[in-house]
Amino acid sequence: MIGLFDALARPFLRTLDPEDAHALTIRMLRLAPLPRAARDDKRLATRAFALNFPNPVGMAAGFDKNAEVPDAVLRLGFGFVEVGTVTPRPQAGNPRPRVFRLDTDGGVINRLGFNSQGADAVLPRLAVRATATSPAGGGGGIVGINVGANRDTVDRVADYVALIERFATVASYVTVNVSSPNTPGLRDLQHAAVLDDLLARVIDARERVMQSAGPTPVLLKIAPDLSLADLDDVVGIARSRRVDGMIVGNTTVSRPSNLRQTMKAKEAGGLSGRPLFPLATRMLAETYVRVEGVFPLIGTGGIDSGAAALAKFRAGASLIQLYSALVFRGLGVVAEIKAALVDALERDNLESLGELVGADAAAVTADPWPQ
Ligand SMILES: Cc1cc2nc3c(=O)[nH]c(=O)nc-3n(C[C@H](O)[C@H](O)[C@H](O)COP(=O)(O)O)c2cc1C
Repeated sequence: MIGLFDALARPFLRTLDPEDAHALTIRMLRLAPLPRAARDDKRLATRAFALNFPNPVGMAAGFDKNAEVPDAVLRLGFGFVEVGTVTPRPQAGNPRPRVFRLDTDGGVINRLGFNSQGADAVLPRLAVRATATSPAGGGGGIVGINVGANRDTVDRVADYVALIERFATVASYVTVNVSSPNTPGLRDLQHAAVLDDLLARVIDARERVMQSAGPTPVLLKIAPDLSLADLDDVVGIARSRRVDGMIVGNTTVSRPSNLRQTMKAKEAGGLSGRPLFPLATRMLAETYVRVEGVFPLIGTGGIDSGAAALAKFRAGASLIQLYSALVFRGLGVVAEIKAALVDALERDNLESLGELVGADAAAVTADPWPQ
């Protein structure tokens, strides 16, 4: 089924405007009678944030923003899916066109700006799943939710708090997204004093609803564009506020000097895909050495092969997420990555990927800074 989709639908989708192609893909996933994914190799099973992941390869936020197809995504072979970003109230996002494919570079630039159907539309979709299965991961598969503030909100922190309170019961984990470059001022929430207040109130909200929702893990998703001094602060605060993990990271506003599609690269927005890999992996390793094993990290940014996935684990990721590679490599990339991870375990005679996590972090942080 996946091979058929890649062979037939993808060449056609590539001729469409990227956002139309995405909308059509979501519609196909809603309708396609996908069989349950084959059982994963036991050695890929990963425990993190007190959740049991059947495999460590996740769908990154932004693909299923409104939780329309989380179970179909799991059936594609992903070990977990992060839906969202969802905002409290519905909002349209920026004017189109706002997604651009850099085909030669294997990159995507988007400035969607949190187009979201809003919490009232998204919540019931996850609630149906949660009552049919166990929300705390396991039974029905792990579905996290990524939350963000409305563009025109007067109190950003209150938006995050409200979303945590509402979604903690229906999501396996909640990601606090303070790193999207397309909502003006959002990334300022990464500044020390503001972040400390935000995380204190978010964790407080999680504790408040714990009785009914259980101990929902709270993750922090950061931008790869932070300075190392800012990263010191961010990790220090994440540790002192006891978040359960971090995602490193979101799209970059930088433009690597070796991009070939220089005209398209001028489009405003966040760059993802292969050109993001060196910076995102460096920031992952920098985060790993600062976290000192206190909580696990999800490595995201430019994973488009087994080798790239392996490099993320070695740089410090316990789990990985991808999105852009699906555009360029198709759905088959998920199975390819999982097979490459099993091969690596066999080659080195390891029992689990945990043994590789962070093995190269020190070496990566000693490299020259990616250009
Ligand atoms: C079209 C598009 C939309 C995205 N929307 C979101 C979003 O709503 N929230 C979020 O946290 N990240 C979003 N992202 C970022 C991804 O989750 C991921 O962090 C980033 O793309 C790097 O991974 P990749 O190189 O595998 O795509 C989006 C990425 C793309 C390409």
